[in-house]
Amino acid sequence: MGARESPFPQSFLWGAATAAYQVEGAWQADGKGLSVWDVYTNTDRMAANGETANVALNMYDRAQYLEDIALLKELGVNAYRFSINWPRILPAGTGAPNQQGIAYYRRFIADLKQAGIEPLVTLYHWELPQALAERGGWANREIVEWFRGCAGVVFDSFGRDVKLFLVLNEPSTDLGFTFYAQQFREKRTSSPTFTLTPLPPAAFTQFAGARMVHHQHMCAAVAIEEYRKRGLSGRIAAIAMLLIPALPETDSEADGKAAWLADGLMNRIYLDPMLEGTYPEDVVAVLRGLGAELPIEAGDMACIARNRGDFLGVNFYSGFAFAADPAAKDNFLLRMVSVPSPGDPFNGPVRPDLFTAGLLRLKDEYGNPPMMITENGAGFPGDDELVDGEVRDAKRTDYLVRHVAALGEAVRQGADVRGYFHWSSHDNFEWISGYGRRFGLIHVDFATQKRILKQSAGVYRAIIENGGVIP
Ligand code: GCO
Repeated sequence: MGARESPFPQSFLWGAATAAYQVEGAWQADGKGLSVWDVYTNTDRMAANGETANVALNMYDRAQYLEDIALLKELGVNAYRFSINWPRILPAGTGAPNQQGIAYYRRFIADLKQAGIEPLVTLYHWELPQALAERGGWANREIVEWFRGCAGVVFDSFGRDVKLFLVLNEPSTDLGFTFYAQQFREKRTSSPTFTLTPLPPAAFTQFAGARMVHHQHMCAAVAIEEYRKRGLSGRIAAIAMLLIPALPETDSEADGKAAWLADGLMNRIYLDPMLEGTYPEDVVAVLRGLGAELPIEAGDMACIARNRGDFLGVNFYSGFAFAADPAAKDNFLLRMVSVPSPGDPFNGPVRPDLFTAGLLRLKDEYGNPPMMITENGAGFPGDDELVDGEVRDAKRTDYLVRHVAALGEAVRQGADVRGYFHWSSHDNFEWISGYGRRFGLIHVDFATQKRILKQSAGVYRAIIENGGVIP
């Protein structure tokens, strides 16, 4: 194979991704119910500067999103990932569907396809209906049936038009934010940052973390069951994993164990049930030591094992090193040692090598499942200045080039990756960080809704045109 020959198959999907809450706005339009994020931002004022996504990128507005689809065409992508806002289609989470919400997504899907862009639909990107949160949310076993109902509405409404579905986005981050919100309300924290590396034991002692994890797996399983029941012909993934490679700081046995446990809490707790039908025993034992039991009922593990996805979603941003720390009683006796440097992207150091290694690990240790990179991208402080009508985001451009190369290397070495979705197509509402953290290939002026393709967008387009080889 020549050095410049593409490792990517012809059918490879080159896309970009967003999520409903981060872009749609229209938080109370056309019968939509509230999601927990509407409440976190409007009532709790949990996001930076009291910002909300009430308007966000106004993408609920067809005139606006048609312009955005035109920009996606300019970007050169052949696929686009977005999510369904649960309370937009089911205002109370269960019960009567909201036809206006369903009509919006139907139209949007048709408009995307009309433009030759393949939709990848996420059923749940953390927009839990507030009505269900008030009934116990993720801690309540009933969520499995609530979610089954939501999945049924999605598949009945869009199942014939959409060929790629993904059930849950980053369940680990959702757990982190749900725990964080509880702590924020109880005034145990006011910190504007939160870390996932890994979650502290308090997420399992002061919060129902173990219940949430198991219910997430069950929701993904029953959604897939509903999909199969309908005999639909597309492909579905259970979870988009936030894959965080965990390296030992030294080759000491203690650091090795610390990194393995961090890996268990961040990665294996999702990967093992999803791909092997069992929970990792070491993690179960550690949680049990905290008094946190996974609420597994008879038949659950068989249900999870029976309802596997057709592919695995992988979100990759960075990886970290861990060391044993006997003093870290509030953090599983381990410590993240990667020191953030001021030039780092918001989500951790630039480590394309760990992207390759992480994918090869999935190949070697989990039987090389078909994979889709459902997120990869970066935002850097100061990289997105608008100067004379242009954004020369040199750091994002470099990150993109290096990660596409790292992905190509993993594919060359046999990892079964079928697509790459850059996070994100647009600058958008970055959860508790608000509008201050930009991740887009397209610059958005949040006051005027004006969009501009950044330098990175041109480079992505060139990469796509060149079959994934860096021009
Ligand atoms: C996540 C989410 C995205 C974020 C992105 C950038 O990974 O947290 O899926 O919604 O915006 O990751 O941080």
